[in-house]
Amino acid sequence: MLSRFGHLFVRVLFMPLPSPTPVDLRGCTAIVTGAAQGLGLEMATELSRGGAKVVLADIQADKARAAAEGLVAEGLDGSSVQLDVTDSHAVGEVFASVAAENGHLDIVVNNAGVGQQLDRVSDLPDGEWDRVLAATLTGTFYCGRAAAAIMERQESGAIVNISSINGQNPAALAGAYNVAKAGVISLTRTMALELAAYGVRVNAVCPGPVYTDFNRSVMQQRSESLGIDEQEMIERVRAAVPLGRWGEPRDIARMVAWLASPAADWMTGEVVRVSGGLEGVSAAPPKRARNDDEETT
Ligand SMILES: NC(=O)c1ccc[n+]([C@@H]2O[C@H](COP(=O)([O-])OP(=O)(O)OC[C@H]3O[C@@H](n4cnc5c(N)ncnc54)[C@H](O)[C@@H]3O)[C@@H](O)[C@H]2O)c1
Repeated sequence: MLSRFGHLFVRVLFMPLPSPTPVDLRGCTAIVTGAAQGLGLEMATELSRGGAKVVLADIQADKARAAAEGLVAEGLDGSSVQLDVTDSHAVGEVFASVAAENGHLDIVVNNAGVGQQLDRVSDLPDGEWDRVLAATLTGTFYCGRAAAAIMERQESGAIVNISSINGQNPAALAGAYNVAKAGVISLTRTMALELAAYGVRVNAVCPGPVYTDFNRSVMQQRSESLGIDEQEMIERVRAAVPLGRWGEPRDIARMVAWLASPAADWMTGEVVRVSGGLEGVSAAPPKRARNDDEETT
């Protein structure tokens, strides 16, 4: 039979450990865009694990609300707001109201973005170019500008923009997305310079492949274009990653939380790749088949 201390020892031994919170964000108010699912949700979770009060802003209102309720159920601090980052006016209103309600806005993570229908630039329709640039680059500009107005006034704050390895090393058939993500890097570095005098830091994270809804669609399209099975495509990507595995959302979220925290106080204008060592995927397609009629006319 176990003694009283024996019972206590067994209880402590099997007690679930609290998840490690490498950053201290207590007292901070944060907005994460595109936080209803995928990487954004994990970023919001990681910031709230660090003690921040996090607003999950997403175009998908119901999903963002459910995600915020999930955080609260875990004892974390989360709320949600519906926001389309391509709506300049709405962005200004949401950011101003979060800052007014809390008295400050300390962290903004510009994560919302959309993938593109894979296509050669020579075939890319205007509408697809516009859709991808609007959500992925212009949305980051609107949110960055709104955050800058508030943070410049309060003379503090950290902005983390989510780019991609494609923003550094473009992949074929994703021209609009590559350009948008390269634009996010340039915007990051420009804003870092402009806001440095106010103590506001702006950094970018370039994630490698993480199997979210976004990447599921990319894998489907890439495997179709190569005429291979989707599982084989997933394995090819895994094998191309020097560290030998796909990323997990938390791999990205931890870097975002760290860059947003005082631990990164002397970092601004940095572009940090979190990709298991993968620098990019070029995926150059072969010449397309031409039919003879085309050649003779
Ligand atoms: N998953 C990856 O492998 C990967 C790699 C590199 C970069 N990224 C980038 O990370 C970010 C998140 O990607 P994810 O994989 O989690 O994608 P995801 O598609 O799972 O999630 C994107 C979220 O953004 C929201 N969103 C889309 N358009 C919006 C708009 N106009 N306004 C507000 N919210 C909007 C969506 O509703 C969704 O909740 C994106 O910017 C993406 O480009 C992802």
